[in-house]
Amino acid sequence: MLYILDTANLDAIKKAYDLYPMSGVTTNPTIISKENRSFLSILKNIREIVGEDSMLHVQAVSTTAEGMVKEAEYLTETIGGNLYIKIPVIPEGIKAMKILKKKGIKITATAIFTAQQALMAAVAGADFVAPYVNRIDNISGNGIRVVEEIVQLFELHNIDAKVLAASFKNVQQVHEVSLTGAESVTVNPEIMDKMLEHPLTDWSVDQFIKDWENVYGEGKITLDVE
Ligand code: G3P
Repeated sequence: MLYILDTANLDAIKKAYDLYPMSGVTTNPTIISKENRSFLSILKNIREIVGEDSMLHVQAVSTTAEGMVKEAEYLTETIGGNLYIKIPVIPEGIKAMKILKKKGIKITATAIFTAQQALMAAVAGADFVAPYVNRIDNISGNGIRVVEEIVQLFELHNIDAKVLAASFKNVQQVHEVSLTGAESVTVNPEIMDKMLEHPLTDWSVDQFIKDWENVYGEGKITLDVE
């Protein structure tokens, strides 16, 4: 399972990379706009934090294949490192994916709401496909079921593209997606923190420390005692 952070907030990225086993960062135009500063600086700052090898997914905003390809080439040159260009699964996007595949530029197909969109994107050359789980749930669909179908289709058709499930409102959705066999999830910083939260974990850790300190002294750790 690859854990990816869905944010452009530098503090949140630093925190998650410090604590958790992160494999990358995803952004989209909405996420970028929330930072309300120079687009290129945001991306360069993220690259500095995560390093060259970590995945960074950046979305093109053109609505024509020609524009998307130009943006993809520009971003590849300017940002560099392990970069994936997010392309929405509109017809011009599929056309752009075919072109970008030939150019060796890595693609994340995004704004996916159906398994057939994911399948066509993968056939067109996408490396990752990003179904929007919570947005599907919010239109009375079943986001987890769509992810299951994508996983199943990729197995049936021997497709190498990976699933990057996105748009989560809670930890349970992430858990259910993990059970489908999807290779990766992108979650916002709040959900990333919540993945580990459990009152009994905190209670147990407190109890261990209390019992230890009763015998070995306050603030002592294993290497302080005989
Ligand atoms: O990466 C796509 C994701 O950002 C969409 O999430 O929470 O806006 O539905 P959300």
